[in-house]
Amino acid sequence: MPETSPASRKYKCSICRDTQMVCVSEEGVGTYRVCECRELENQRKRLRFASIPKEFESYTVESFDLGAYKSPEAREKAEMAKLICANYVRMFSRLQGDGKGLYMHSRVKGSGKTRMAASVVNDLMRIYGIPAKFTTALQILDEIKQSWGEPGKGAGERQLLQDVLAVPILVMDDIGVERPSKWVDEKFYSILNGRMVQKRVTIFTSNCEIENLLFDDRITNRIMRMAVPVAFPNESVRSLLAKAENKELYRILTADSGA
Ligand SMILES: Nc1ncnc2c1ncn2[C@@H]1O[C@H](COP(=O)(O)OP(=O)(O)O)[C@@H](O)[C@H]1O
Ligand SMILES: [Mg+2]
Ligand SMILES: [Zn+2]
Repeated sequence: MPETSPASRKYKCSICRDTQMVCVSEEGVGTYRVCECRELENQRKRLRFASIPKEFESYTVESFDLGAYKSPEAREKAEMAKLICANYVRMFSRLQGDGKGLYMHSRVKGSGKTRMAASVVNDLMRIYGIPAKFTTALQILDEIKQSWGEPGKGAGERQLLQDVLAVPILVMDDIGVERPSKWVDEKFYSILNGRMVQKRVTIFTSNCEIENLLFDDRITNRIMRMAVPVAFPNESVRSLLAKAENKELYRILTADSGA
């Protein structure tokens, strides 16, 4: 059994034996090339840092399925959103210089906003190799609160804010669901203002248009300057998918065993 032999157990990559270089001979001359495990390893590192939800790890803008929407209006809106996102990825080098991100919104949950945000970030990491972080607005606030318990008064929070400010691409999923408060305003202001000043790209998703967010005007104003709004359909793919799944399950459960 090759997989239990000592040689293959010792190395993560059996092709290069973890040297990340492989010897190849071209027309009788031996040269070296970089093993493909190096790019895979880099990709893994980028993905770990990104903490993209497992479900979304393999998605790309290209694979975003327009057929998942039922009504023609929904499909048309999704088509436009997909086009904007594809162009955004294509023109990213230019847009990154201006720190321009995207703001994906629709009133309805399950219309594909998070999926698309993850797809854009996956593409940007893969094509341009730029590090990204995927978090929800609530997660950021929770992490800030958790950092208070750590030793060194305020040091944990400062470090966390520094990380959130420094990452070249940040996804803030589901912004606008947190209960508004002065404290929330203050934290989001320092994050968003810091990112805006440094022209860092932020990609938002929300169930609410920018102008209807219940934040302080200074914050909504920053978001408007940092991100281009992208409207998503007000149709839930999630419920359609669940219905389709149940239908399929029902078909299996009601099938004659044939015995
Ligand atoms: N275009 C699509 N094609 C297939 N599945 C989709 C599509 N958009 C969303 N989904 C699936 O539907 C579910 C809800 O999508 P999600 O992006 O979480 O919605 P939202 O963030 O708008 O609430 C997810 O499981 C997602 O994978
Ligand atoms: Mg979502
Ligand atoms: Zn290798």
